[in-house]
Amino acid sequence: MKVAILISSRGSNMQALVRASKQAGFPAEIVTVLSNNPEAGGLEYAKENGIPTKVINHRDFENREDFDTAISKYLTEQKVDLICLAGFMRLLTLDFVNRWRDRIINIHPSLLPAFKGLHVHERALESGTRFTGCTVHYVRPEMDDGPIIAQAVVPILTGDTPEVLAERILVQEHRIYPLALKLIAERKIKVHGSIATISGADESLATLTNPLVISDAD
Ligand code: GAR
Repeated sequence: MKVAILISSRGSNMQALVRASKQAGFPAEIVTVLSNNPEAGGLEYAKENGIPTKVINHRDFENREDFDTAISKYLTEQKVDLICLAGFMRLLTLDFVNRWRDRIINIHPSLLPAFKGLHVHERALESGTRFTGCTVHYVRPEMDDGPIIAQAVVPILTGDTPEVLAERILVQEHRIYPLALKLIAERKIKVHGSIATISGADESLATLTNPLVISDAD
């Protein structure tokens, strides 16, 4: 399975996917890393790891449609089977999402459908929820919407700041994104309406829980 990863900045999830793809027998190949931002830090990592990179700067286009058409054209030329959005901070047009339907996935730092959109960690802390986490899902036209492939649960701890919580969630993002890609490349994920199911595998594989460890030393 030929995979493109789309990034806008640091690209730590992209790095996790690249690392996984280099393991023997991994069923997907990262054929390109594409960014809308020429300054994206992740581009350097991709180059150093021998992955072709491409910049399509959204500022060079008059509108969203033309930008998305240029991305689609490039990905089609590269014979890409699956697009992984990894911190790609551009909203995609309806045409683009429909064209790549069930061939485009995203990672989001919350337990969807909770906390769609931006400032996710601040909002999770303000809500008083005890648990948050991260989600890999197929992309649908509505933002941060679509069939869920994998999730990890992360507890909220006393004294958490948005930054500390983001770091703890990121560790789990780096576990579930390669897992989701592997399951898709193995053709183990089927989409039925708004639900994605895993066949031929233990479904618990896609749900990683990280319960709070209570020390009795206190
Ligand atoms: C990640 O936490 C990812 O879940 C989030 O942006 C960060 C990108 O980090 N994505 C979204 O919020 C999308 N709605 P990275 O560039 O180090 O992978």
